Amino acid sequence: RKQTTILDLQRMKREGEKITVLTAYDYPFARLMDAEGVDVILVGDSVGSVVAGYDTTLPVTMDEMVYHTRAVARGSEKALVVADMPFLSYQVDLAEARRNAGRLIKEGGAQAVKLEGGTNMAETIHALVDIDIPVVGHIGLTPQSIHRMGGYRVQGKQAEQAEKLLADARAVEQAGACAMVLEAIPASLAKEITAAVEIPTIGIGAGIDCDGQVLVIHDILGLCEKYSPKFVKRYADAATLIRGGIRDYIDEVKSGAFPGPEHSFK
Ligand code: KIV
Ligand code: NA
Repeated sequence: RKQTTILDLQRMKREGEKITVLTAYDYPFARLMDAEGVDVILVGDSVGSVVAGYDTTLPVTMDEMVYHTRAVARGSEKALVVADMPFLSYQVDLAEARRNAGRLIKEGGAQAVKLEGGTNMAETIHALVDIDIPVVGHIGLTPQSIHRMGGYRVQGKQAEQAEKLLADARAVEQAGACAMVLEAIPASLAKEITAAVEIPTIGIGAGIDCDGQVLVIHDILGLCEKYSPKFVKRYADAATLIRGGIRDYIDEVKSGAFPGPEHSFK
C-alpha cells in the first residue's frame, strides 16, 4: 500500500475524483478510517471541542497537537496525515510558525500542516512551503476567529464578503498551499472558488462542488450529542452502541455475572 501524497490530491482534482477527509485524534480511529480507504486524515484542533470538551478550539496547545498527531500517524499507513496548527502557534512570527509546523512533521509524523487564514496568512504559508512543509489553507468560517466573527456562522453571504473570500482563496493558492478547506460558505461561492483555483478545495458546509469533503469523525458517528451544525450528516449512532456496552458491563459487575470462570485465572 502506497502512501497518499499531495500529488495524488492534485491528480484527483484534475481527474474529478472526490477527495475524502475525516478527522482523527488517536490511533484506533486512524486505523479504522485508514483501513476503509479515507484519502486524508486531519488531526484537527477540533480535538479541543470534541475530545477535551472546550467551548472553542483556542486553548489547544502545540504539545497536544504533537501528541495526537503522533498517535494518528502511527495508525495511518496509506492516508495522508494533515495536522492543524493551533491558535497562536503561527500568528506571532514566521520563525515560530516554521518551528511549530516543523514539530508537527518531525515529532508528529504528519505529511502536511493546516492553518487558518487567507490573504493575511499568505506570507506565513509561503514561509512554510519554502522549507518544504506542505500547507493546507482554511478559509471561510475559521473557528480560531470566533471572537472576531462573534459566533460560528456562515461566511461570505454578502457580495463584499464573497469577493474577499475569493481573493483569500487566490492568495492561499499563490502562497503555495497544496489544498484548502472551505468552511461554512454558500455552495455557489464554493463552486466559484473551486473553479478559480488549481489546488483542491475541501468543503465542510460548502456544498457539493468542492473537490472533496471533510467532517469531524465524532459528528458523523453521533458521538457529539450536544449541538451539531446543519452541515453535519450522522452516518452512525455510536453513542447508543457505547452506552449499551457500558450499561451491560455495569449490570454484570453489579449482579456478579462478570467476571466468569473464562475470564479468571486458576
Ligand atoms: O479542526 C478541524 O476539525 C477542522 C476541520 C473541521 C476542517 O479544521
Ligand atoms: Na481546525
